[in-house]
Formats: sequence, structure tokens, C-alpha cells
Amino acid sequence: MKTTISVIKADIGSLAGHHVVHPDTMAAANKVLAEAKKQNIIIDYYVTNVGDDLELIMTHNRGELDTKVHETAWEAFKEATKVAKDLGLYAAGQDLLSDTFSGNLKGMGPGIAEMEIEERPAEPFVVFMADKTEPGAFNYPQYKMFADPFNTAGLVIDPTMHEGFKFEVLDVFEGESVILNSPEEIYDILGLIGTPSKYVIRRVYRKADNNIGAVTSIERLNLIAGKYVGKDDPVMIIRVQHGFPALGEALEAFSFPYLVPGWMRGSHYGPIMPVSQRDARATRFDGPPRLIGLGFNVKNGRLVGPTDLFDDPAFDETRRLAEDIADYMRRHGPFMPHRLEPSEMEYTTLPLITEKLKPRFKKESDVTKAKRSIYENTSQGTD
Ligand code: F6R
Ligand code: MG
Ligand code: MG
Repeated sequence: MKTTISVIKADIGSLAGHHVVHPDTMAAANKVLAEAKKQNIIIDYYVTNVGDDLELIMTHNRGELDTKVHETAWEAFKEATKVAKDLGLYAAGQDLLSDTFSGNLKGMGPGIAEMEIEERPAEPFVVFMADKTEPGAFNYPQYKMFADPFNTAGLVIDPTMHEGFKFEVLDVFEGESVILNSPEEIYDILGLIGTPSKYVIRRVYRKADNNIGAVTSIERLNLIAGKYVGKDDPVMIIRVQHGFPALGEALEAFSFPYLVPGWMRGSHYGPIMPVSQRDARATRFDGPPRLIGLGFNVKNGRLVGPTDLFDDPAFDETRRLAEDIADYMRRHGPFMPHRLEPSEMEYTTLPLITEKLKPRFKKESDVTKAKRSIYENTSQGTD
């Protein structure tokens, strides 16, 4: 029987700003999932968080986009929101864009990454979860893991990976996707995924047998709601070992703290910083964007683990470099390219500013005239 891994996440409110999930809200979600496990809706689960995002990691035999599983997640977020409201937490219920559940969670606010798999005799996988960034932030590491032999030695020396992988790339604005092959089409792949605000790698398949290796949440809340309603902090499931990237190859992709959009007010580029669960809290300038990685095995749907993969001195240097990059970027203050280009900013106040100032703008020829008269009035007596 096939196993489905469902990772569903939402920001339903947090403590002391957009900082960290409150343990009581996690307990409320936990209770709902425990009940769903008792009722055999799900086989197993694990509740966690990165920054202000609450993540539900669930296993079951019901396939992707299953109504009962999604309803369970919805219930968990609703219950957690009740607690958030009781405690007066910040932005309680922010990612739940609808009041009524209808069929599945698509388009309702929560981020969803699901994969249905035939379990291998040992089935190791990693769930990566980020706060203060967006789904396209996982383009770079997925390319490194599944297409770059300088990252993944197995692409060269493991015969089961040597044929390469297929990337399903989604245009989040047009709502259409394309499947591209690696290594043959890597220049085309990079041509698209190098624009991560528009093109997001949704799934990766092993070419040899079409087995799925990766899935990412692709929901962009502002595109769903039509206005800024919070960040689309993404989650990603990566199968590892035996024909997929080794665990260490998957983690190696995060050894470079590359720049991602998000951070303060969803409007700044900053370095992605891999951290332990303990450090999965947004602090400096509401960040820097944080990433956690939890490693599991799944056996007949039962979850074994997790292990906290970035809780490791091997990533100290990455974090240190991320801090240096954070310093460097911060010194640009409100200037691009630290601040995002206007079309990518999650806050929409810039048009209001330009609108307000519009009457004061003068045609260039007038400005030139005005400039000349100011000069003539002030330059008397000077050369
Ligand atoms: C970014 C984020 C935070 C908030 C910031 C202001 O995704 O969640 O950086 O944008 O803390 O929040 P508000 O507007 O709620 O005061
Ligand atoms: Mg938030
Ligand atoms: Mg968040």
C-alpha cells in the first residue's frame, strides 16, 4: 500500500510579533492530530514550527489532496487559532483566508507539500521548513541537490542517479507548469528558476523510473488574496539516499547562505540561515530568513524521528557568513537591492507615496526652468 506524506503549514499567530509559535497553539494542533490518528484518518504525525509558522507533518494512506486529511489540518489550525485569540497572540489566524472548509485546502491560505510514495525497504526523507521567505527560495537548493554534480557526487558516481532528474516548474502567475529534463536542459531550467518569484520548482522526479524525489509548497498568499496577507513561508519534502541525493548532499545545498526575498515586512533580500529548532525564531530585522531541516524515516506510515539536522557545528560557518551578509545587506537600509523591487514587495504603500506626491511632480522642462531660476537667483555675485 502506498504512503502519503503531507506537510501542511500556516501562520495562525505568534508570540511577541511575527517571531515564534506559542507552545499552547502547538498543543492544540497536536490534540486534533492525536484524535485523527485514533480515528485512523492519519497513521502518524509530528507538529513543529519554524518562526511564526506552525507545521503539521502527517502520514496516511489516503493520497494527495485528501478531504479528510485536509479537514483535519484545517481543524488543527482552527483550534490553534482559538488558543492564539484567547492568549491575544499577534496576527491570530492570519493565514486562514476562508471561514468554511470545502473539499481541500488549496487556495485557502495554508501551504501544502504532499507526496504519495511506494515505501522503499528503508525510506529516509527530510522536511525543510523556512520562515520569512517564499516558495521560490527552494529553487536554488533543489537545483544543487538534483542537477549540480559539484554539490551531489551521486549524479556522477551513483548509476541509479546518473541519468538525471526531471523538474516540474510552475509559473505562479500564469498557473501553468512545464517539465524539463536535467542534465540536457539545465540552461533552460536555470533560465526559468533563476526568476524564483515567477517560476517555482514544484516537484522533482528521478528520470530512470519517474519516482518522485521532491515536492515544495507553492502557495503564494498575496496571489490568492490579491493583497498582502502574510508571507508564503515554504516547506519542502526531499527523499534521500539510494537513488536520491544522500542526506549529506541534500544538506550541502544549504551550506551557502544564498539571498532570498522576504525578511522584514516581506520586502527585503537577506541570507537564508540554516538553524536548529531551538534557534528557529525570527529576531534580527525579523529574521534573517530561517530554515530548519528535520530528518525522518517512515515505515508502513509510521514516522521514526525526527533528527534536527542543522543542530550541528558543521553549519556554524554558514551561519557566521549569513550574519556577515546580513550586516552587509542591512547597511543599504531602504535602498535596493536590499529592499525588493516595488512589484515584489509585500507591502503596498509605495504606490500611495507616489500617488500623494504626484501633484508635486513637474514635467522635466518645468524642472529645468525652475532649476535655472533658482540658479539665477542664488548665483549672483558668484561665477
Ligand atoms: C514578514 C513578517 C514581518 C512583518 C513585520 C511587520 O513576513 O511577518 O517582518 O511584516 O513584523 O508586521 P505588522 O505589519 O504586522 O506590524
Ligand atoms: Mg508571519
Ligand atoms: Mg512566517
